[in-house]
Amino acid sequence: MYTGIVITKQQQLDQLRADILENDICPDLAAQATQLVMGDGNLDADIVFIGEAPGKKEDLTGLPFVGASGKFLNEMLAQAGLERADVYITNVVKYRPPNNRDPKPAEKKAFMPYLLKQLEIIHPKVVITLGRHSMEYFLPGAVIGEVHGQPHTVTIDNDDFLVIPLYHPAAALYNGSLRATLIEDFVRVPQIIAG
Ligand code: URA
Repeated sequence: MYTGIVITKQQQLDQLRADILENDICPDLAAQATQLVMGDGNLDADIVFIGEAPGKKEDLTGLPFVGASGKFLNEMLAQAGLERADVYITNVVKYRPPNNRDPKPAEKKAFMPYLLKQLEIIHPKVVITLGRHSMEYFLPGAVIGEVHGQPHTVTIDNDDFLVIPLYHPAAALYNGSLRATLIEDFVRVPQIIAG
């Protein structure tokens, strides 16, 4: 008789959230944040987007990319023929940094094992980094201006991921030429994945 217990992806992610709380990751950030923002979307997605850290609206709602950057991200997903329900979206740092300052190296480092575990659970084929804070772990030393939109195969714990670094939507939102570049890169994503 088979007696193995099957744990769903959702249960594994719930456990991961509990681990972050129990291990008191970044207590200074946690103290001023409303809540931990783990991620959102399809747990069986082929594509995972990784941003930087929650902003104000994300902190209040508990969901990633729901503010101005999120609106822009949704528009680009639509232009690429994708919906939020097709993908999974998360951040490197899972508490809002005060006044939306950049996450500190120690904060990114503290959250990295949890991000990697999240990827192990969801097991996507493609990781799309949004901005340099998520790119720097997967493509150390890369310069976003040189590598944006280009796929790279990255091996983590014997698993291969196709990593596509993109500009961060917040950086591109009010900058005409970056905006055009990001949209151009974004709409090519399905083609890159298919190829
Ligand atoms: N910017 C990010 O990097 N992540 C969010 O969730 C929102 C804005």
